[in-house]
Amino acid sequence: MSYIIVKESPPLKGSVRVSGSKNAVLPIIAATLLAEGTSVINGVPNLKDVQVMSELLCHLGARVSMEGEKLIIDATNIEKLEAPYNLVNKMRASFLVMGPLLSRYRKAKISMPGGCAIGSRPIDLHLKGFRALGAEIVNHEHTYNEQGYVEASVNGDLVGEKIYLDFPSVGATENIMMAAVFAKGVTVIENAAEEPEIVDLANYLNNMGAKVRGAGTNTIRITGVETLKPVEYTVIPDRIEAGTYMVAAALTRGDVVIENVIPDHVKPAIAKLTEIGCHIEEYDSAIRVVGPEVIESTTIKTMPHPGFPTDLQSLFMALLCLCDGKSTVTETVFENRFMNAPELMRMGANIEINGKTATIKGVSCLIGAEVVATDLRAGAALIIGGLVAKGETKVRNIYHIDRGYVDIVGKLSNLGAKVYRVEEE
Ligand code: UD1
Repeated sequence: MSYIIVKESPPLKGSVRVSGSKNAVLPIIAATLLAEGTSVINGVPNLKDVQVMSELLCHLGARVSMEGEKLIIDATNIEKLEAPYNLVNKMRASFLVMGPLLSRYRKAKISMPGGCAIGSRPIDLHLKGFRALGAEIVNHEHTYNEQGYVEASVNGDLVGEKIYLDFPSVGATENIMMAAVFAKGVTVIENAAEEPEIVDLANYLNNMGAKVRGAGTNTIRITGVETLKPVEYTVIPDRIEAGTYMVAAALTRGDVVIENVIPDHVKPAIAKLTEIGCHIEEYDSAIRVVGPEVIESTTIKTMPHPGFPTDLQSLFMALLCLCDGKSTVTETVFENRFMNAPELMRMGANIEINGKTATIKGVSCLIGAEVVATDLRAGAALIIGGLVAKGETKVRNIYHIDRGYVDIVGKLSNLGAKVYRVEEE
């Protein structure tokens, strides 16, 4: 299995370009299923998750090709309405094809999703939305032969309805938005997720001819239309990748310009980095982060957008391992997202977990160790931690990291980091 070696590195210096957003492009790829013809998506990050989603669309009958950062999808001939376990279990976001298939073909059968092991991650809110629009849901949880599949179908048309989400789930909001684009009348999603990726999907759908209003607020209204047309679209930059390099600059006491970022999308990271002592300059589409002399302690609580993003939590935990004093990190979005704490502790961190809260007592240095990436962001956090650890850190299970970071080793190396990837069978 391949692994990444990180050696103690000098302060990071220079500039790094952020790729297109993984979490924005995955639902947009699913949304191409809504129109006959050829859609073109620009700024697509070449990631394992994008490959899995493309494979899934090919399995359904679409023709997909990637030219650099351009993804071309012809969804004219969709022959299958079923997504099998071997594709869906690789990535939870595969479940996002259910909304578009149900919407355009009135039927879909999808294996229960997999993805990062950061909690139980149910799909009840997605299904609640589909049911409200008039779909019949059969959950083959205990059916011999079809175990683990969920089937949704509708006789006639889906019909717009008011749907209140018990939690502002990103995936459920996206799936319901896509299911509702052809529904008769008006669908209202209340307590909807407000993440920038929701706004990007709404913009994409509206470019196709949909009528989605209010994305970015907690109430989204979708007025059903008759047809959608394929369009060319450029995806937003990845705010979590941007946040990752911001943390790397801070932790190594570096001076890094992060390019291709929308500063508004990384407000929580800017606020927390400023609190711990960083100097930050914001430009139209770039951010300069100058690390502090002393990393001040702080408190972090993850929340749905515009709160502090759970996807940056493990990165900030790595940063706070070297804080002056005591910091706390509270995770409210996923119940199992402290799995990297024991790995950081193997590197000398002082972290105590009590339920949803981690208390981090700053230590003077980390020490290189052999560690395991337990999920995508946790893996990146271990690489970043390794940059300031004495000696050598070996990060295993890096397939998690490949799901969400375009060439993290190359990008960090360009900033002066001593980081290498070792390919093994
Ligand atoms: C998306 C992101 C992920 C990010 C997360 C939260 C993608 C591809 N992934 O994941 O990187 O960490 O948002 O910002 O965009 N929940 C339910 N029932 C449901 C759906 C969700 O209870 O039907 C719960 C989950 O268990 C979790 C919380 O809602 O506790 C948030 O999940 P959700 O917002 O749906 O995350 P994802 O869309 O899976």
